[in-house]
Amino acid sequence: MSVDLEKILRPVDTPLPKFPAKYMTLANGQEMVVRQAERDEIPDILPHVEPLIHVERDFYNIVAARLYSELLAYYTYRVQDEYVLVAQIDGELAAIVNGRSVSPDVGMSYHTFSLRRGLRVGAHAFATKMEYHIDILKQKEVLIVAESGIGFRRWMIEYNLEKRFHIPHELGGCPSWSLTKELFDKARTTLVVGRRPVPEHLLEKAKAGILPPSDPPKGPEDLLAATRSMLDSTATSLIEMRRKQGGKIK
Ligand SMILES: CC(C)(COP(=O)(O)OP(=O)(O)OC[C@H]1O[C@@H](n2cnc3c(N)ncnc32)[C@H](O)[C@@H]1OP(=O)(O)O)[C@@H](O)C(=O)NCCC(=O)NCCS
Repeated sequence: MSVDLEKILRPVDTPLPKFPAKYMTLANGQEMVVRQAERDEIPDILPHVEPLIHVERDFYNIVAARLYSELLAYYTYRVQDEYVLVAQIDGELAAIVNGRSVSPDVGMSYHTFSLRRGLRVGAHAFATKMEYHIDILKQKEVLIVAESGIGFRRWMIEYNLEKRFHIPHELGGCPSWSLTKELFDKARTTLVVGRRPVPEHLLEKAKAGILPPSDPPKGPEDLLAATRSMLDSTATSLIEMRRKQGGKIK
């Protein structure tokens, strides 16, 4: 008897309410649209995450590597109840946020990834995904971790997250922090911005296609300088330099 292995490997997604798109005005006056990314859009997103696997600065490398695998898992149906939201400015990819629904009461925040620095696009995208969990999925709490100092400042400190250190986070190997509905309610007037409905022309532009980020984060020109300035505790700069010297990248 033949067995349809794919049916066994593929978890069955719970139907989740869609995220209603919203938009916000950034500090530089540009409008940013945040909307749900469909599964078939993932191949358009992956090429903009992959180069950052090699950028050590601000821990883009580990976050990019993990996010890449989560997006791939979503695309290939290897994770249950994941969602992906994209933030776009004039169609350009500005931020990616993702997570998953663990149960009707609990959400799992995966990653927040900013491709345009200095405008708090990551902070806005994170607030938007918390809104999805608390207001749309009606969950009581969202489990969160930070891989970078900037992430810790943005989430743990700005939202005053509560410790849930007895719960391992799905990112692997880290204790969780929690954003409860009560904490989110306190942040509504300060950290959560944006309006609905998104004007037709903005939404159409965003949905027309995910355009490459025009000014994505980049590694330093001189990796040895980065090594000196960061003390290179992980030796990633040296590994990268060797990789370059080995001629694998130009
Ligand atoms: C964490 C993150 C999502 C925050 O995004 P954001 O809100 O858009 O904030 P930015 O990254 O633009 O800016 C954060 C800080 O970096 C600095 N910064 C601003 N522009 C910068 C630039 N061009 N280059 C480097 N640093 C910059 C600022 O000091 C800013 O500090 P602030 O808190 O005083 O505003 C983003 O830094 C990111 O994607 N980091 C890598 C992945 C990551 O760590 N994700 C979170 C996992 S927990």
